[in-house]
Amino acid sequence: MWKMLCAVKKTGPGLARLPQLSCAAQQAHQRRTGFSSATEEQLKELIDENAPERTDTEWLNAQDYSAIPGPSKYKFFRDFLPGGEFYNINYIDMHKKLHGRYGDIFLLKGMFGRPDTLFTYNADDFEVVYRNEGIWPIRVALMSFDYYRKVKRVDFFKGRSGLVTEHGRSWGDMRNKVNPVMMKSASIRGDLPEIDKITLRFVERLETLRDPITGLLKNDFHIELKKWAFESVTYIALNKRLNMSSENANKEAAVLAQNLADCFNLSFLYDMRPSVWKYFETPGFKKLMRAYNSITEITYKYVLEAMHRFESEGKTEAKSVLEKLLLIDTHYAMLMSIDSLTSGMDTTASTFITTLYHIARNPEKQRALRRELMQIMPDPQTPLTVENTKNMPYLRACIKEAQRITPIAPGNLRTLPKDVVLSGYRIPRGTSVHLGNMTLCNSEQFYPRYKEFIPERWLKSGESACPELRSSNPFIYAPFGFGPRTCVGKRIAEMEMETLMARLVRLYKISWASPDEMQYVSNLILAPKAPVKFRFMPIEEEDCAIGSFSV
Ligand code: HEM
Repeated sequence: MWKMLCAVKKTGPGLARLPQLSCAAQQAHQRRTGFSSATEEQLKELIDENAPERTDTEWLNAQDYSAIPGPSKYKFFRDFLPGGEFYNINYIDMHKKLHGRYGDIFLLKGMFGRPDTLFTYNADDFEVVYRNEGIWPIRVALMSFDYYRKVKRVDFFKGRSGLVTEHGRSWGDMRNKVNPVMMKSASIRGDLPEIDKITLRFVERLETLRDPITGLLKNDFHIELKKWAFESVTYIALNKRLNMSSENANKEAAVLAQNLADCFNLSFLYDMRPSVWKYFETPGFKKLMRAYNSITEITYKYVLEAMHRFESEGKTEAKSVLEKLLLIDTHYAMLMSIDSLTSGMDTTASTFITTLYHIARNPEKQRALRRELMQIMPDPQTPLTVENTKNMPYLRACIKEAQRITPIAPGNLRTLPKDVVLSGYRIPRGTSVHLGNMTLCNSEQFYPRYKEFIPERWLKSGESACPELRSSNPFIYAPFGFGPRTCVGKRIAEMEMETLMARLVRLYKISWASPDEMQYVSNLILAPKAPVKFRFMPIEEEDCAIGSFSV
């Protein structure tokens, strides 16, 4: 079986050998339209521009699109320049200002080849958008990534460019194939023993960095945690331990980590802020292209290496995520590995810190969590297994509640395939809509006592469960997105976060070591702002009484 797969090395796309540039015509097209022509074709399949306009009463009675409030193009652009209202401003604060200025629905007009984006904070609109998204929902984000894969490196990606950037049938085919591997807990938990080992190693390292008197760490916790997230996601994506934090670090680990960080930071500049890259490739944009290239090359090399390893080991059964994906389709496996690396590190690290922060600031909840963990791990060294991790409802509830308060993706994006009415306005098909989940998840209307960290909202049974504190509207709480296009790495992220949280809370009493609340910076996602300071003190006997919950 693996022998057959290794044949790809001879027949498949030889990334390192192929020329780097695509044709100038394609690049010029991309600059004119804002999308690669391949994406345009895919969108045409989904958004029927020639379909007749609606003539029903709801549509006719609605106000025209042009009446939607929002800044003019000129004003919005000027706001980003030095001295402007949004110059160097946090993305969340910018949205708060716009929301305050224009109300629950407003329009940011497209510029520099980017389409209009409509922002809504009206829960009824969320339902309309999701009910009309169809079987192949459209999320046009990361256009630089689209450009890299479908224009710059069309030689390598050959029209099948990965979940993040594909649309329509092509996206649907890949998603259908990878879902059974990626979205099923039972499937990804084959990697749990190794993730647990990575986590135990991380906890050992933390102990060496911890001052035994103060409980504070010598190093920046966020940086250390990103290394853990990197080690975990590279193991899942490449089936290889890169040992980032150890003396035996793989020589490519630092290069890969640096390029992933560059992608995250630069893509924010070029995909989320007004930028001229579609007309002129700035040095920063070229650096972003080089970073994408390096990640692709390193991934390609390791996935091939994994295929050879599986073959030489003579395995008859696929256990890990990568092995399972390789058995389905080698190209999809490669794409999934790249997408996992680019999407799975900062997201998981930021969500984990957010959860730890709330647990640290709520000692009662922390004790309740520890009681649950003591049942699963009476001995702190007990290995975490598929069986014993099934029963951790309070831990899962803590992560869910932290994601309600601060979802690191504070909103979700969809491009409408049909004409719809939102908040009483006619919205034409093809419009990109941003749904402001975080704002609604932090409102008394949907989440009573929304400022409090109450994991019990999410418990399904048990004395302390309070489902009445949870919104019954299924469209509002969506930290991993919604529907068929929901985050494909959700189960992996949950497994990683649960493993580390279980290990840390079982060993330490954790508190927040700063008088100030944790702040966030927003680039592509919300990330904790330095300094991230926790105090870790070994637990005492009274923290260990046993109790139970169920969800
Ligand atoms: C706590 C960590 C994470 C959060 C909060 C998160 C959040 C999200 C969100 C909000 C989306 C958009 C979903 C939508 O459009 O409805 C998404 C998409 C995606 N995520 Fe995650 N993510 C996380 C971790 C991961 C991990 C670990 C991986 C990979 C192993 C991953 C891979 C992806 C991919 C490939 C997509 C695109 C899916 C598609 O369009 O079909 N994510 N994620």
